[in-house]
Amino acid sequence: MGESRDRTETVLVHDDGAIRTVTVNRPDKLNALNAATLAALQAAFDAAADDSSVRVLVLTGAGPKAFVAGADIAEMADLSAARGHEFSLAGQRLMRRIETLPKPVIARINGFALGGGLELAMACHLRVAADSARLGQPEIGLGLIPGFGGTQRLLRLAGRAAALELCLLGAPIDAARAQQFGIVNRVVPAEALDAEIKAIAAQLSRSAPLALRGTLEAVIAGGECAIDEGLRFESAQFALLFASQDMREGTRAFLERRKPEFRGE
Ligand code: COA
Repeated sequence: MGESRDRTETVLVHDDGAIRTVTVNRPDKLNALNAATLAALQAAFDAAADDSSVRVLVLTGAGPKAFVAGADIAEMADLSAARGHEFSLAGQRLMRRIETLPKPVIARINGFALGGGLELAMACHLRVAADSARLGQPEIGLGLIPGFGGTQRLLRLAGRAAALELCLLGAPIDAARAQQFGIVNRVVPAEALDAEIKAIAAQLSRSAPLALRGTLEAVIAGGECAIDEGLRFESAQFALLFASQDMREGTRAFLERRKPEFRGE
């Protein structure tokens, strides 16, 4: 196991082999995202993008109660429109950084994922929730709307009916309903969350990194363009992988009836 490192206290980074866990660490504020925490998360994901020893990331919140209970309401309360805009852009930049990371990020939703917390989870590539988690976009109750990409990602992930229900009514939903909406991939009993996350992260850490990257790029870009453009992008990514050692290794290992050893080359 790697060592825990403290980045400006609000974000913890921990390595276990090729699996990096990033933890929002303000448990007494239910891991609410203030400007300092957004900046620390941005730095953590920038560093992970450039570190070839990291093959997969897990993003979670400290403590038993919350993933992230939203943007920091105390910090937002007195912002001017100009500062509010900056705060929104900083949040959107972070979410986009995570979404476009060239390696998979799994959200470990261990409790409340509200407002900016759900937006953070939706920027990840896979979402696994404890059955006790509650998810929602309650900004309407504050006289606000989601500002870190929630209106757009919820729409794309779950469709207009779900996006409007969550954002207009503001009421949190439980993990099972979130799964029905397609917002989370898997729901497991709270006590099984770590084992589930570990199994998924371990599988991803053994997969071919260039193929993971190609998958992420094709799916994320494809969700944002016309199908013919997406298909061209897919073919280009597919073709590029024929230049990788890992593709030769993966196909040979299949034919030789053995497990492949992928190196990211
Ligand atoms: N921003 C700032 N502080 C927050 C916060 C947020 N989004 N969410 C929780 N906290 C703080 C509370 O103010 C409280 O701090 P205090 O102990 O210094 O008073 C602490 O975290 C614990 O929260 P509390 O409300 O006492 O816990 P609870 O179990 O009674 O309720 C929630 C849990 C999640 C239902 C409730 O905290 C909540 O509604 N949070 C805001 C959710 C929200 O609207 N998010 C969107 C923001 S845009």
